[in-house]
Amino acid sequence: MKRFTFLSVITVSSAILLSSCGGGGTKESSSANENTPKEEVKTGDNAALTAQLQLGEKIYKEKCIVCHQIDAKGVPGAFPPLAGSDYLLADPKRGIAQTLNGSNLEMVVNGVTYKAPMTPQVQTKEQAVAVINYVLKTFNGYTDDKLLKMEDAEDIEINPIKL
Ligand code: HEC
Repeated sequence: MKRFTFLSVITVSSAILLSSCGGGGTKESSSANENTPKEEVKTGDNAALTAQLQLGEKIYKEKCIVCHQIDAKGVPGAFPPLAGSDYLLADPKRGIAQTLNGSNLEMVVNGVTYKAPMTPQVQTKEQAVAVINYVLKTFNGYTDDKLLKMEDAEDIEINPIKL
């Protein structure tokens, strides 16, 4: 009788243990399955964006810094700012086109007139989007979700200005 009780206690308690484990396990793995694909996509996006911004930084430091300066504030009257530029921020897509094709306009940036030309600075849309995104994020506080996408450059014609 004593032995029987002991066994039944074990049987009952292991049944409870098993069912609670099984229940918990199922719940956890189903929520993990829901999250896994999203996280993978997010990681992929971030890796691509990180690579893009690194390319942008390299281009900025190799090319743009000479005129637009290390802090992107430019040289008033000569080279317009890219940090806090009302002109760039009004239309960042236009900034992609200008970086790619150059610019020979009279423009007013933050109240100052510029009219020296800028020669084409990069060869591809990928490079132009990368450097403009770097500028938007680093010098203008854009969050990742506000940055430009390659689709934003789709309609831009590659047509470098001739000086
Ligand atoms: C040799 C000097 C020089 C270099 C190098 C240069 N720029 Fe410019 N940039 C200018 C000048 C001058 C203007 C004004 C052009 C105009 O009036 O049409 C300008 C204008 C701009 C504008 C639009 C105006 C504004 O301030 O928002 C953007 C955007 C821009 N440059 C981005 C770049 C980027 C990105 C690079 C590097 C890939 C670069 N520039 C390299 C001289 C330069």
